[in-house]
Amino acid sequence: MTETLDIKITKTQHSRLNETDFNNLQFGKTFSDHMFLADYANGEWKNFQVVPYGEIGLSPAIAALHYGQAFFEGIKAYKHADGQVSVFRPEKNAARFNKSAARLCMPALPEEIFLQSIAAVVDIDREWIPSKPNHSLYIRPFMFATDAYLGVQPSETYKYMVLIGPVGPYFSKTLRVKIETYYTRAAEGGMGFAKSAGNYGGAMLPARKATEEGFDQLIWTDAKEHRYVEEMGAANVMFVLDGTLITPSTRDTILEGVTRDTVLTLAREWGMPVEERRVSVAEILEGAKNGKLTDAFGAGTAATIAPVGSISHDGEEYFLIDPKEREFSQKVLRELDAIKYGRVADTHGWNYLV
Ligand code: PLP
Ligand code: COI
Repeated sequence: MTETLDIKITKTQHSRLNETDFNNLQFGKTFSDHMFLADYANGEWKNFQVVPYGEIGLSPAIAALHYGQAFFEGIKAYKHADGQVSVFRPEKNAARFNKSAARLCMPALPEEIFLQSIAAVVDIDREWIPSKPNHSLYIRPFMFATDAYLGVQPSETYKYMVLIGPVGPYFSKTLRVKIETYYTRAAEGGMGFAKSAGNYGGAMLPARKATEEGFDQLIWTDAKEHRYVEEMGAANVMFVLDGTLITPSTRDTILEGVTRDTVLTLAREWGMPVEERRVSVAEILEGAKNGKLTDAFGAGTAATIAPVGSISHDGEEYFLIDPKEREFSQKVLRELDAIKYGRVADTHGWNYLV
């Protein structure tokens, strides 16, 4: 399907743009003037609309609230110096959206609807895209079950929506992280690879405990033995160990990050040795001790490239070199920004222009 979607547009009578303080943006708290909505019923997507951002009426019995048929995506749009606006690799998110949908017994959303819905809201609210360095427009597409029915079975109706809002950096400092050896984010056969709402709900208690212990994030390990590294909070995790970029290979417990893929692609093009494989906690701690671990960072849309300052395990804290002295993550962050903000040629076709 490549024809243009028939989107009904209702513009707001009162823009909040001038009342918004773009110098104090907290991630996820500021929403633009408009949002996108579509409904799924009788086996098809319909009622495509852009409406003013605001509350929507829903039955308290909807299946999403009771049984967690809900998932989301996270994408960013950037304003270039010449005023052009680009969304970063949304086709990858469209594909992952449908992997999440399939895992949760929810309907697929055609890529064209996904892309055109994003383009429609980003275009109407393009004034909301910050032009400050390290700032962008966060795009949150999501789908949830709307049958008002308490039977435990897949809903027959759904809503798809897109919210957008300006954001600054997600992390403001180098991270003190803890390797989690009790709680589990995802187990084999589970839904770790999906961006299901429940994955995030289940991660809140372990994350809160880690915060109470003074950590900024935790590194998830495998559910069976807690001996292998999986992800870091809501980001993939990457290390440079003895000159090689290593990251856990994707499996059903790990979200296949778009940033992860982007970083791996650039590293390979630069001739850096890259390994996607199981990464043991032991080798990371050993590398931190003997100085061969020269870089460690989270990679994600919200997180961007988030440097890890220290890694703790079983009460012992291992400090890494100053992020400013890390060759790889500094270079990859510079290059990623240059591509996203249109300062270098987009040779990979990663920027989807709106
Ligand atoms: N892993 C988890 C659990 C996440 O929530 C995210 C964020 O989206 C990522 C990894 C990174 O994925 P991406 O780079 O596509 O944002
Ligand atoms: C993203 O990076 O887009 C995410 O989804 C992380 C989010 C849960 C804040």
